[in-house]
Amino acid sequence: MTAHLGPAGEGAARVEIPGQLLERARTATRVCILSGAGMSAESGIPTFRDVQVGLWERFDPMELATPEAWRADPEQAWAWYAWRASLVSGAQPNAGHLALARWQQRDGVELTIVTQNVDDLHERAGAQVLAHLHGSLYALRCSECEAPSGAAYPQVDEPVAHLDPPACEECGGAVRPGVVWFGEALPEGAFYDAVEAAQQAELVLVVGTSGLVHPAATLPYLAAAAGAHVVEINPRESEVSETAHEVWRATAAQALPALVDALG
Ligand code: OAD
Repeated sequence: MTAHLGPAGEGAARVEIPGQLLERARTATRVCILSGAGMSAESGIPTFRDVQVGLWERFDPMELATPEAWRADPEQAWAWYAWRASLVSGAQPNAGHLALARWQQRDGVELTIVTQNVDDLHERAGAQVLAHLHGSLYALRCSECEAPSGAAYPQVDEPVAHLDPPACEECGGAVRPGVVWFGEALPEGAFYDAVEAAQQAELVLVVGTSGLVHPAATLPYLAAAAGAHVVEINPRESEVSETAHEVWRATAAQALPALVDALG
């Protein structure tokens, strides 16, 4: 079936909904969305691994996104996250985020969203997120005593080398971003909730992830093993593609509004 993109989509492209997806989406009572950085790409938030534009082509994750990097140079890590938070706060949810929020509000379906993204664009589109597997940019906490912090990032329009992190209101320690760094544990309960949602769903859409970071990358396999119909939405091939029963080579902001519009 061919759906036409509305004004929120990219141009007047025609988006072909693959094989069984529309029928499965119409009849499923439990749908699970597994989203990654590609979900927010059309909001202007760079992904991590896309050629040329991916953040990890310009920045070294080992210098920015590990507990060791934080201990060695907290000002450098804080400055980088302040820049990313500024990018996110200046961005708007795209047509893909908005379509998922609409789908979640439909009667007769329980749609859960599990994201690796640390932005808040699903929520700002009006959707509820079951699990932020890699934490949230905005859940600031003390790097010493773990107390939640009411501090905020400064506005940073270009990446800068160093900025002083705020001091914890409780103990004076350096306040850190609420994201999960390489080598750290996922937020308590988040992965358990994600596994349960993926395994209980009849339909799982894996949107905009390279499928390279574990344990999030295991979720499509677990869903497929539990009997879900797994569909990848990604303009390029990824580690998820082989597991998926169907692949839809379209972007999030093309595919999701086309699908939700077609639900009728
Ligand atoms: P990646 O940057 O690894 O992958 C992004 C994926 O999105 C790629 O497969 C792209 O082809 C796809 N993509 C790009 N534009 C898209 C669009 N408009 N619509 C749909 N898909 C698009 O991002 P993640 O898989 O999310 O972790 O990365 C996983 C984790 O690695 C991140 O959460 C982060 C990073 O290191 C931490 O920081 C802990």
